[in-house]
Amino acid sequence: MTQLQDDGRAYGRETGTHDAELTQTAAGTPSGELLRRYWHPVGRSEEATELPREVRLLGEDLILYRDRSGVAGLLEPRCCHRGTSLFFGGVEDEGIRCPYHGWLFAADGVCLDQPCEPDRGRNKASYRQPWYPVEEYNGLIFAYMGPAEKQPVFPRYDIFDDLGDEEEIVIIDHFAFGGPVEAPCNWFQTHENAMDPYHVFILHTTHSGVQFNPKLEIWPAIDWQLHPWGVTSSQDRLLPDGTTLHRVTEIRMPTIRVVATPTLSILGRTNNMSWAQPIDDTHTRVFAMVRKPKDTPPQGLPVYGDGRSWFELSEEEHQLYPGDYEAQVGQGAITLHGEERLSSTDRGVSMVRRQFKEQVRIVAEGGDPVGVEFDESAGPVSVVAGNYVVDADTERADLPMADTLSGEVGSHG
Ligand code: FES
Ligand SMILES: [Fe+2]
Repeated sequence: MTQLQDDGRAYGRETGTHDAELTQTAAGTPSGELLRRYWHPVGRSEEATELPREVRLLGEDLILYRDRSGVAGLLEPRCCHRGTSLFFGGVEDEGIRCPYHGWLFAADGVCLDQPCEPDRGRNKASYRQPWYPVEEYNGLIFAYMGPAEKQPVFPRYDIFDDLGDEEEIVIIDHFAFGGPVEAPCNWFQTHENAMDPYHVFILHTTHSGVQFNPKLEIWPAIDWQLHPWGVTSSQDRLLPDGTTLHRVTEIRMPTIRVVATPTLSILGRTNNMSWAQPIDDTHTRVFAMVRKPKDTPPQGLPVYGDGRSWFELSEEEHQLYPGDYEAQVGQGAITLHGEERLSSTDRGVSMVRRQFKEQVRIVAEGGDPVGVEFDESAGPVSVVAGNYVVDADTERADLPMADTLSGEVGSHG
């Protein structure tokens, strides 16, 4: 066995390990079972069409389609008769028909027709194609992939309520607002990034040039707060005009991050929130749901180099102006937790990991995790993130995580 070198050189170092309790997505794994207690986005509403689509969520390959009556369905690809893929199926008014022997399945898996059987299938209703329930919400299709008896009420969020005539809700699925749709890395390393406010100062402002807003270069007072539903970070910056920018970011169990527009083009409570979609252990897609006036672009996206979008950069320029995609994918397909040197500024990341692992164990012991609601009459979930500008007239007690405001602002030494 090789020995680690006393002078720290690379020879003999170990390969490194990752923390499976944070990163596994498959059914039967502890974290995969936790994830299966929540609703997850499986695709944009327009991705469910009469042409079946192969999708992958939590390591499971599935078929997403929409029947001619408008109902979206999410089924196992292998037909329960003799296994042909429903990817080649034909969508009809009430479901999807297998191309091989014509069995027709509804979105809840029930077999509606067996054209080759006597009387078109006297026992057809007893055959069921494996299926998952879906819900559509503001342009996204969500799926629940856990046990039936633990299915929570589908959660809605108050920031999207009471939409005015001049407003709309759009879905943006750039990875990290400005990258490709899918990233070749584990979902947790993009998720925990939302509780890492220090990288905003370095990666997005000083290292790669200003990617969002120059005000983020002002050194903030930073604190983190643990909640029953997740973790928040609050960051206060004393602005040149004497006001304070009180920025609150939140992570909600298990895959939600609410990051108020980092270009600061939207002040007050956030107009958007995002879900990480764990495609499998090494692939992730991120969906942002954004509320906006109909006549404006969604929100400021990050700029790179001399003001270009992520897609306009050459390979060399991605090296020169790295952003979230490069930093997070750069950690590897699954980051090596065992090799990390967590420091004082990683407190928020540690809080997110600790809470997630606590919930993994609660589910393993038969309990229900935080943030699942079983009461149908429960109201929408209220989010707190935002860019709050605080002046002498602001009623501070009304602001979320106002405690940080008493901290010393702008005093990084
Ligand atoms: S394999 Fe699907 S109907 Fe026979
Ligand atoms: Fe970032």
